[in-house]
Amino acid sequence: MSKDFETAKKFSNSWNNVYNPSVYTYEQVTEWIAPWNVNEMKGQSVLELGCGSGAILDHLQKICNISLTGIDLGSCVDTARKLLNENVNIIQADLTDHKYILSLLGRFDRCYTIGVLHHLREPQKGFESLIELTKPGGYFHAWVYAHEGNWIVRIFVEPLRIFANQIPWWFNKFIIALPLSVPFYFYAKLCSLLKKFGFSNLRIPLFDYMLWISIRDFRFHHHVVFDQLVTPTTHYIKRERIEKWLKHPLIEPDSIYIKFRNGNGWKFGGRIKTR
Ligand SMILES: C[S@@+](CC[C@H](N)C(=O)[O-])C[C@H]1O[C@@H](n2cnc3c(N)ncnc32)[C@H](O)[C@@H]1O
Repeated sequence: MSKDFETAKKFSNSWNNVYNPSVYTYEQVTEWIAPWNVNEMKGQSVLELGCGSGAILDHLQKICNISLTGIDLGSCVDTARKLLNENVNIIQADLTDHKYILSLLGRFDRCYTIGVLHHLREPQKGFESLIELTKPGGYFHAWVYAHEGNWIVRIFVEPLRIFANQIPWWFNKFIIALPLSVPFYFYAKLCSLLKKFGFSNLRIPLFDYMLWISIRDFRFHHHVVFDQLVTPTTHYIKRERIEKWLKHPLIEPDSIYIKFRNGNGWKFGGRIKTR
């Protein structure tokens, strides 16, 4: 059995009960996958590792002529299949088992993973799948929680997550996450207000992230708090670890990028050498 089985099972409690399986906006999705440009993806095969409810694929499927595949280990694949049109191929599998996925699906022009590697028992194995499942000359891209900028989450939220992920999901969602979402929501709105009054570079916790989330409604904030508390495994990944990963011999050294996102995450990626 996969080491991530428990994590995927618990995330499925979140995705199978989310208020809207297509929970992101188009702008969120295009920013998440940038520097990729959706126009460059036309006519290509694209794989998402850890697709959850299919919320990202849902926006990509509206762009014509991308051949889309999503992989997730949890029962949320059923939610994704209901959300997405039948041309999107959704597979229930362990994304760290790249040999199996390769034998089933082959390689893709592009392969991405958003918000997944930091929840794996062995994040490096997920990274290796990202590389192995991308064609020579193809592109890979990922977003993970950063160690940097997340000290407040690591100190105050992590102890709660370790407890909360073990209780029934509905208790966690409605008795723990819901009340916590109220101050979270108002803090985000306060940050947004401060920005409007010209305070754009405040050195207060998670300021840039709050600006990012503040444009969304209360239900989205609640979803994010529950998503944070539902999982048994979370790593906060240091830039130097990503730098080591990106020294992989299959990666074109000139193509790599690592960008600090919203003050609390890393977006990174590059291109696979033409072998
Ligand atoms: C935070 S969610 C992200 C979902 C989606 N990428 C998004 O951004 O909405 C993490 C997802 O990774 C999946 N996952 C965790 N470990 C996995 C594994 N070993 N193989 C496949 N999926 C896995 C979980 O089931 C969950 O749906």
